[in-house]
Amino acid sequence: MTFIKYLSVTVCLYLMCTSVIVKGHFLSTFASAVAEFISCRSEECCGDKWIHVNFTGLAEQLNSKLYGQNLVVKSVIRHLKGHYKGNPCKALALSFHGWTGTGKNYVARIIAENIYKKGMSSKYVKLISATKEYPHEEKVPEYKDKLKELIESSVKQCEKTMFIFDEMDKMPPGLIDTIKPYLDYYENLGGVDYRKAIFIFLSNSGGKDIAEETMNYWNKGKKREDIKLKDMEDIIQKPALNVKSGLWHSELITKHMITAYIPFLPLERKHVKECIRDGLITGGYYKKRSEIPELKVLEIVEELTFYPEGAGIFSTTGCKRVMEKIDYVMVEV
Ligand SMILES: *[C@@H]1O[C@H](CO)[C@@H](O)[C@H](O)[C@H]1NC(C)=O
Repeated sequence: MTFIKYLSVTVCLYLMCTSVIVKGHFLSTFASAVAEFISCRSEECCGDKWIHVNFTGLAEQLNSKLYGQNLVVKSVIRHLKGHYKGNPCKALALSFHGWTGTGKNYVARIIAENIYKKGMSSKYVKLISATKEYPHEEKVPEYKDKLKELIESSVKQCEKTMFIFDEMDKMPPGLIDTIKPYLDYYENLGGVDYRKAIFIFLSNSGGKDIAEETMNYWNKGKKREDIKLKDMEDIIQKPALNVKSGLWHSELITKHMITAYIPFLPLERKHVKECIRDGLITGGYYKKRSEIPELKVLEIVEELTFYPEGAGIFSTTGCKRVMEKIDYVMVEV
């Protein structure tokens, strides 16, 4: 036994030495692999320890913290499951559409938190805001290089990078098409495989049409829950193909690079009230939902605007301005 061990160690050392001589950089590669293995235990790196989808947590959070968006919950979970099932044949590209406050950013964050141990602060989650990072239309050539560099260096560092593009509808025209090659079915693009990456696009485009269709359902006395994903997808894609503004006059759509269009419906009073109850707890005003007086909730909901005028069914700002209204109503004077 000891002899065999001795022999294998010798052979191993011999092989290592020859490879040092032959390849030169073997030792440094080996050393950096060891260093990475050790540092991965405490520092975030691209392995399973730090990146791992928790579908239980994802479903639980989407079901309990997102109000009135059944289509979103089903669709997001299904697409992520598909993406993580085996080796994806293309990067996952989800496009979230809807008015402000309907939960687009919120869902993106929940997804990040259930994939990356460090959530939104993971170095493998890149949040890109069009108005902050690409404000000047005349600088598009420069922005294109910047965006390409960001995507390439990020995925080179970790294949399982997630990009969240906020305010896609405000991206300067032409810039978005820069993303197209990374969403395509290429196995290898300049030595890098982009197919495990996730792209989430957030925009208000289509929001008006989604709202109108939801209104139609309501007017006909049909249930919101009966709205079909397919109908909404058609509604989102149609104007998206025509409008010449930044976002959706883009090859990403005409060349079918988007995996799914996900509609966020306008929120009704009862959904906003749920957000208010959550806000009252996270804001520290109450400990439990059961302690919250209904009158307080009504007082806060009255501070928000609803449309159409008269009927006041849907919130114009969804759950977005809820927290400031809570503070406004709850502050002691
Ligand atoms: C997944 O999420 C659930 C619910 O949030 C949590 O209880 C569980 O510990 C998580 N599992 C892992 C492996 O993180």
